[in-house]
Amino acid sequence: MDFDREYQRAQALVEQALQSAFAGELDSPHRELPEAMGYSLLAGGKRVRPVLTLKFCQALCGEMEPALDYACGIEMLHTYSLIHDDLPCMDDDDLRRGKPTCHVKYGEWLALLAGDALQTAAFERLAASERPTPAANGRACGILARAAGRNGMCAGQYLDILEQGRALDGERLTQIHLRKTSALLEAACLLGLTASPVEYTEQQWVAALDYAKELGLAFQIRDDMLDVESTEEELGKPIGSDAQNGKTTFVTLYGLERCRALVAEHTEQAKRSVEGAFGRPEFLCALADSLAKRKN
Ligand code: IPE
Ligand code: IPE
Ligand code: MG
Ligand code: MG
Ligand code: MG
Repeated sequence: MDFDREYQRAQALVEQALQSAFAGELDSPHRELPEAMGYSLLAGGKRVRPVLTLKFCQALCGEMEPALDYACGIEMLHTYSLIHDDLPCMDDDDLRRGKPTCHVKYGEWLALLAGDALQTAAFERLAASERPTPAANGRACGILARAAGRNGMCAGQYLDILEQGRALDGERLTQIHLRKTSALLEAACLLGLTASPVEYTEQQWVAALDYAKELGLAFQIRDDMLDVESTEEELGKPIGSDAQNGKTTFVTLYGLERCRALVAEHTEQAKRSVEGAFGRPEFLCALADSLAKRKN
């Protein structure tokens, strides 16, 4: 398997589908709103979550296309979370995906609305998908809502901000990471299973959840390492943001060396979760490995 080629193929499908998302709305009287949404959405993120959606669908039915709307939806929701995460009242960051953040470019009120409207656009896209059945679309909306909401990503963001300036232990930090990062990755994988015309088994559902949970823990520790050891050019977002905001991270708790080992442990755990549960887990395992080494 050529991992890079497979990743790029999935990424290109997502990119193309997202390009046309709000293109027809740019001559409306409120055109600056879809423009601000597109500004952040089309700025070229890694597209990890939608690629997971497509690849979990493919792992079941051999095709990615049935999951394309769900893939667009999860990326819209993720982009909303980034726009709000960067606001002055949260992490107060000026650079995202290599460009000035949405509020720097458009002002706070419009960035707030662009985030809000990306969130609702995500659910609109899931609800209106013509590939899976209407019943599957309903389940997909429930999955995304639970992952993004008060017990998922929002809860994680709440705790992340609440605990700024306070000393946390590893257990508490893990609880935050499971919500702010793993939750959306879980939704990404489960949306892929939900979109597939071939039914998933209970074992596959649990395997996808475990995989995403561990992938998320590795992903956030890696993110916190990059905040310390990368450069702004390579990362496309500011470095030193966590220290500036007084965040406890695994890096401040254990140092970079121990973090490298933790990332490797969670990555191995993620790979073990999908081996045996899916016919061809190679891509999912290679993706976990590549995220453990990622540079941005
Ligand atoms: C950033 O997510 C937010 C975290 C959960 C650490 P990504 O690293 O996936 O950001 P993009 O989508 O590639 O910009
Ligand atoms: C998680 O963490 C972000 C979201 C859930 C949106 P960070 O605040 O560390 O993400 P970055 O580093 O700004 O991308
Ligand atoms: Mg944050
Ligand atoms: Mg941030
Ligand atoms: Mg970060």
